[in-house]
Amino acid sequence: MRRAVCPGSFDPVTNGHLDIVSRASRLFDEVVVATGVNASKNRLFTPEERMEMLREACTPYPNVRVAGFGGLLTDFCREHDITAIVKGLRAVSDFDYELQMAQMNASLAPGLETVFVPTAPEYSFLASSLVKEVASFGGDVSRLVPDFVNDRLVRRLAERRTSSG
Ligand code: PNS
Repeated sequence: MRRAVCPGSFDPVTNGHLDIVSRASRLFDEVVVATGVNASKNRLFTPEERMEMLREACTPYPNVRVAGFGGLLTDFCREHDITAIVKGLRAVSDFDYELQMAQMNASLAPGLETVFVPTAPEYSFLASSLVKEVASFGGDVSRLVPDFVNDRLVRRLAERRTSSG
């Protein structure tokens, strides 16, 4: 059984993430989409909300399941018998950081491979952080995320505006 992880913050999941997940699901027997903690990012959705959206978005892929983790990715991989990390690369600018993480993860867990998948050109500009920024100013992101994610995003941002007066 070849099992891979697609790790990320997924705050929220975008069509670009789903493109990588669907391609990983064709490369591996089983794929775990795992929401982790990126200490340098602020969150709009809770981990449970992010996993709920991922579960709904991943229903078309029978060999994909969703999980969360709070510690090191390498520990999660060891605990779940995962031998590959799949990451999308949008542009050269992603490469420096992704290579650094891949090498750190390989040093922590020898034998754990990172597989880079080039993002489809139509998603090369797509990032959850930009989706949130555009949506927060009322921009239309409905082509960039699944419909139910767009609905939740619009609702959450409206709640935020109301609560911040
Ligand atoms: O979508 P992101 O924010 O680029 O995802 C980054 C994530 C969550 C995959 C990464 O920060 C991560 O693996 N966090 C878990 C903690 C960890 O293992 N840190 C060391 C990475 S070398």
